[in-house]
Amino acid sequence: MLTFEERRKVLEIVEPMEGVLTGKDILSVEQFNRDDLERLFDEADWMKRLKEQNGSTDILRGKILANLFYEASTRTDSSFSIAMKRLGGEVHNIVGVQFSSVSKGETLSDTVRVLSGYADLIVLRHHEKGAALEAARAIHRERQKRGMSAVPLINAGDGVGEHPTQALLDAYTINQKFGQLNGLTVGLVGDLKHGRTVHSLSKLLSLYENIKLIFVSPESLQMPPELVAELEAKGVQMQVANDINAVTAEADVWYITRVQKERFATEAEYKAVSGSYQVTLETVSGMKPSAIIMHPLPRVGEIAEEVDDLPQAVYFEQAANGMYVRMALLAGVLGKW
Ligand code: NCD
Repeated sequence: MLTFEERRKVLEIVEPMEGVLTGKDILSVEQFNRDDLERLFDEADWMKRLKEQNGSTDILRGKILANLFYEASTRTDSSFSIAMKRLGGEVHNIVGVQFSSVSKGETLSDTVRVLSGYADLIVLRHHEKGAALEAARAIHRERQKRGMSAVPLINAGDGVGEHPTQALLDAYTINQKFGQLNGLTVGLVGDLKHGRTVHSLSKLLSLYENIKLIFVSPESLQMPPELVAELEAKGVQMQVANDINAVTAEADVWYITRVQKERFATEAEYKAVSGSYQVTLETVSGMKPSAIIMHPLPRVGEIAEEVDDLPQAVYFEQAANGMYVRMALLAGVLGKW
């Protein structure tokens, strides 16, 4: 096996090539098959070694990422930025859209068409479902019209739609812990109606054999019926529970999420469902000893802090994996593997 240094030298001289992600937008987990995931996880392992051994490299020297965030973010925004920097590229951040022309009423399509003339790659987070697709189409039209090469767009969360890069890092983390993704029972807890992370993760898991999902949510925050139908058609077994305590011993992975406050019309509607579930030491004592507890973060009380030091609690490790997976994605989209 090559050392990281040897491999870095190989990657550095690779001119953009036709890899599976080269020049592609990343809009949905539906773009990925199991082979793609295996390859991506391998690349993310290399990125982890790179971070541990060298800190950074310069395979993306000369490339510039525009990070365009219309919604709050800490992990996704900073892990994409730092991932790009660790690969030798540069980043332009537009996080406070209130300081950009968006505040003057500019459309998303216009904003990304312009940015695609400046940057090599765009990462977009937006509050509307379907925004990433709309933006990618606008960029394609503009580039095609001018006969120019693609400027890929990565969906960093589109409203209640998808959060593909989060699901990829979640699947990477599960694979790291269990050595595979087949045959697992995964409990999804919280706001399954609005949570884009659980939408993307459940679709990604449906690629594997013998997956069982247990949905635990307040009655009004259940999984969208059309997604349930899609999962059913793919052979995923599903069970619904109102209370995690009724099913604690059943899952290999417990994936906890927060109630998505920003998706509620009124504070009163949010208050009616927030704070209705919490994972505590007592909850964990009922879990399989081999179970892991995940959370995309931020948490707002769904997992008591007393749980953090238990070996089952992997959410901070999961967040760290986000950077490795995003490094692998950036390198892939820019043609390095
Ligand atoms: C998630 C999101 O934005 O959907 N955050 C993240 O990217 N890790 C989850 C959330 O905000 O609850």
